[in-house]
Amino acid sequence: MMKTIVEKYVENNKNQNSEMMEKAGVIIKNGGLVAFPTETVYGLGANALDTDAAGKIYEAKGRPSDNPLIAHIADKEQVYMLARNISEKAEKLMDKFWPGPMTLVFDKQDIVPMGVTGGLSTVAIRMPDNEVALELIRAAGVPVAAPSANSSGRPSPTLASHVFEDMDGRIDMIIDGGQVNIGIESTIVDMTSEPPMILRPGYITKSMLEQEIGEVAVDKITIIKDKSQLSEDYKPKAPGMKYRHYAPKADFVMFEGHMSDVVSHINMLAKNNEERGIKTGIIATDETISKYENGMVVSIGSRHIRETVAKNLYKVLRDFDSTEVDVIYGETFYDDDLGNAIMNRLIKAAGYKIEKV
Ligand code: TXA
Ligand code: MG
Repeated sequence: MMKTIVEKYVENNKNQNSEMMEKAGVIIKNGGLVAFPTETVYGLGANALDTDAAGKIYEAKGRPSDNPLIAHIADKEQVYMLARNISEKAEKLMDKFWPGPMTLVFDKQDIVPMGVTGGLSTVAIRMPDNEVALELIRAAGVPVAAPSANSSGRPSPTLASHVFEDMDGRIDMIIDGGQVNIGIESTIVDMTSEPPMILRPGYITKSMLEQEIGEVAVDKITIIKDKSQLSEDYKPKAPGMKYRHYAPKADFVMFEGHMSDVVSHINMLAKNNEERGIKTGIIATDETISKYENGMVVSIGSRHIRETVAKNLYKVLRDFDSTEVDVIYGETFYDDDLGNAIMNRLIKAAGYKIEKV
């Protein structure tokens, strides 16, 4: 066990912050691990040019070594140091959406170690839209490889306390920058294929990308709703998309249908569970929360405000882990725009268990 330092980034306290960022930068430069906020989720950072440092990320997370890391940069010039064959379309996307929740995959330069790219000849790069993250990258003086700062398989962290739960004693430092803004991970776009292809949906939607560069394809793994469509030999282009993910500890099932039918079905199941001593958690929305009669009911936000649902999603899943619930029931969401990214995460958290009612 190592001692994990936790420090708060306090807005407007310049002296304290710059001292802290300097300390964090030194840890990264020396091959250590620092967790930090981004606008999407908390990241677990290491020097992206150092194989041994990246190796420590895999160890701390318990992450399979074929699942590559995203290199975070603070300055557009760093992209040319890490990547080759940068197209005009990529330039357009970077100019429009960076800093921001979009990751681009390029052919890698030799300087990027295979230990960071999971053995791939490509590298994923993103410039986060978060002052703490940008200051850390600048203080480190190197690109910072950072997956989400959760233990592999668990919901991604949207608060420093989530990182602490998973990483205390495993990493050098956690910078607490409060709750993240967006709450789900960046959109990943593969710029090595033509048309470019979305490998993971996120806050930057297909139509936002298409407005800048025309046609954009979507990796079919991101839209699969049914486990039987996941054939054994289908390899997602983002290796991470094949792993069980974001899952709460209790069994999680979603129900799809007219909202009143979904509510009565869940009420019926929860009542049955109660009679049999099974504890039920329910992920409701502001529109339905008052209609549930049994179990531990939590709202994920208004279903009409997708940004709120995205922001609350991982926290709601994680919060159930500190309760005694045996099973969690939830509603589904429309699958368009940001709803697509929300459903992609929920479906994986539920292990593809969606029932029509
Ligand atoms: O918003 C985010 O992207 C957050 C914050 C911390 O920046 N990071 C994040 O990293 O979500 P992680 O490691 O949890 O997810 C990275 C995903 C994985 O699914 C991985 O397989 C994919 O990106 N990926 C990384 N490099 C890739 C590459 N060269 N080609 C294809 N997919 C790649
Ligand atoms: Mg992750």
